[in-house]
Amino acid sequence: MKNIYDYIIIGAGIAGLNSASYIPKDSKVAIITKENPWDCNSFYAQGGVAVAINSEDIKSHIKDTIDAGANYCNKRAVEILCNNGKEVIEKMINDGFNFDTDKKGHLLYTKEAAHSKNRILHAGGDATGRKMHQFLLNQNSFNYFGNTIVTDLLIEDDVCYGVTIYKDKKFKNLYGKNIIIASGGVGSLYQYHTNAKSISADLQGICLLKGCSLKDMEMMQFHPTVFIKSQFARKQLISEAVRGEGATIVDENGNRFLFEYDKRGELSPRDIVSRAIYDRKQKTKGEVYLSFENFTKEFFANRFPSIYKALTDFGYDIPKDRVPITPAFHYAIGGIETDLNGRVKGFKNLYAVGEVANTGVHGANRLASNSLLEAMVFSKRAILDTLRENFEPNFIEFEIDKTSLFSEDDKKYKNELRKLMWENAGIIRKNSNLKKALNRIEEILELKIGKLLKLRLLTSKEIIKSALENNNSIGAHYKIKEN
Ligand code: SIN
Repeated sequence: MKNIYDYIIIGAGIAGLNSASYIPKDSKVAIITKENPWDCNSFYAQGGVAVAINSEDIKSHIKDTIDAGANYCNKRAVEILCNNGKEVIEKMINDGFNFDTDKKGHLLYTKEAAHSKNRILHAGGDATGRKMHQFLLNQNSFNYFGNTIVTDLLIEDDVCYGVTIYKDKKFKNLYGKNIIIASGGVGSLYQYHTNAKSISADLQGICLLKGCSLKDMEMMQFHPTVFIKSQFARKQLISEAVRGEGATIVDENGNRFLFEYDKRGELSPRDIVSRAIYDRKQKTKGEVYLSFENFTKEFFANRFPSIYKALTDFGYDIPKDRVPITPAFHYAIGGIETDLNGRVKGFKNLYAVGEVANTGVHGANRLASNSLLEAMVFSKRAILDTLRENFEPNFIEFEIDKTSLFSEDDKKYKNELRKLMWENAGIIRKNSNLKKALNRIEEILELKIGKLLKLRLLTSKEIIKSALENNNSIGAHYKIKEN
């Protein structure tokens, strides 16, 4: 068999590229990206990367992570995250990456919701993900397969032998010794979301078809402050760091109503802020706004240049105008179940890292800016694990599955699915609504649809089934009891 890769990495966001950075340079590596490499969620991550500011702060970072996660986190995973943060960040800095500093060159740390102190590093003001991603892209020397869709995992027993790809209208099998899934979350399943447009739960769906376990799929995180009144599929995120630096959330009458919901006000964990905004809007039928009146124009434009530009382009005069906000889907906490080295449960050489994975680190509600750190720490651990294991599969040939990826009416059903998920599996859930959505998904699954839509439907179904099974409201999963 020819063309065997040492590593096949699915996804070119920070988790995928950081994995690549730990692979020996003489290895044969394929990095597969569905569109272009910058069409990923990392690119849009604004706020920053959380990291303990010194060794004394590690304990407090662990505590904040577990508290925000509603005490549902895997404690060992959180310890690994917080203990190893400094090292992966220092490597980036030593490799030449510039986080924002003051005039004397000291790192600047900002604050975000549910952090007990300022420990969020940022770059380019509010362009942390984009800058880190660009840096890793520039450093990478391995080959990309761009505009390439992964349509199958070649699995037999507990080994993954490779992937089927669809490129230039042709299917092909690629074989690899180690397969790293770093394909991101599930944004396109929801009507309103902050994710890159290609993030559509394909790999989660393939895992369900292949019997790999997904975990905590009811834990879908909604970001509280999103400007959704634009025609774009990806809605404009307004970073929590803006509140960390002094922005407030007000109702139509200028009331900072969040204190009625939690004494931490604007800096409560994001599940609490999201529900409070949702609740206020439902009750008053009015808007909720982010107010920037505590900022000068100069400060805001310097500290948050990307947000400033986006909101100005939408016609707002910042910081004078307040901006209507609503919670929108932001991050999949649930995902492919892995061990503490990113290895997919039950597999010898299949790994999942970054948002696609569930390491248990985020519990029921991810602490702000822990996602980039998780992507860095656990992608490194995954590659170190492969190097220790040095697994050599006894390769077998797989037939190429050429099931059609697209069908004529897919677009219509994709839009219906987004609405179904937003209305029934969103911020506040009820069993009756979840069942209604589940029934409709099962109906659509019986229709003539392409495989890519099927994968979205299967992942959605899994989110709904997990939400139906969990009758406890916890963190991001909030359910109203019915009679
Ligand atoms: C933000 O900047 O508010 C997003 C950070 C995150 O998702 O952790």
